[in-house]
Amino acid sequence: MPASLLDALLAGDRRRIRGLAEYRIPDEFPGDAVGLIRLRREQIAVDPLVAPWLLRAIVRREDLAMVGYVNFHGPPGVNDTMSAGALELGWTVFPAERRRGYATETANALMDWANREHRIKRFVSSTTADNAASLRVHAKLGFVRTGEIVDGEIIFALDR
Ligand SMILES: CC(C)(COP(=O)(O)OP(=O)(O)OC[C@H]1O[C@@H](n2cnc3c(N)ncnc32)[C@H](O)[C@@H]1OP(=O)(O)O)[C@@H](O)C(=O)NCCC(=O)NCCS
Repeated sequence: MPASLLDALLAGDRRRIRGLAEYRIPDEFPGDAVGLIRLRREQIAVDPLVAPWLLRAIVRREDLAMVGYVNFHGPPGVNDTMSAGALELGWTVFPAERRRGYATETANALMDWANREHRIKRFVSSTTADNAASLRVHAKLGFVRTGEIVDGEIIFALDR
């Protein structure tokens, strides 16, 4: 999501949002995610080159509806395990769109992109013990626990 779109989302300017995005963004977005949008916008302001590593919309091919969002936590090396060259992933699918495989498909596609375009081989992710859906997504993707807990979250890693 480019800086101009993040600005429109932060301003709540629905007309500008519609003009900037080629897909349909629900009126409820960003909602709870406003803090994340603000953070990502600030990071792009400091260094525009980090944009590809930050926020992306998950868009359904059939009707071009945004069904969630995904991001790395920053460029390679920015991750909870401080592994050089590793990328950390985070994913959210809107409640009405869950259990359709979207998080799993998106995470796989994003890791393929990072591997193909930037030769990234190690991925990191984290979730809490009570997040059954996210734990299941980690398992489906092949992530394994590293044994670390950071800020109460279980750390997972995947080498591809
Ligand atoms: C985690 C999240 C992104 C998953 O998105 P999704 O598109 O529904 O994920 P998928 O459909 O690819 O896979 C979900 C899997 O979890 C399973 N699942 C969902 N809810 C579950 C629950 N309460 N208990 C057990 N399994 C559950 C699904 O059945 C599915 O597994 P399956 O394919 O074996 O049937 C989504 O639930 C979400 O946005 N949650 C809130 C934000 C969040 O917690 N993000 C992760 C932070 S670490």
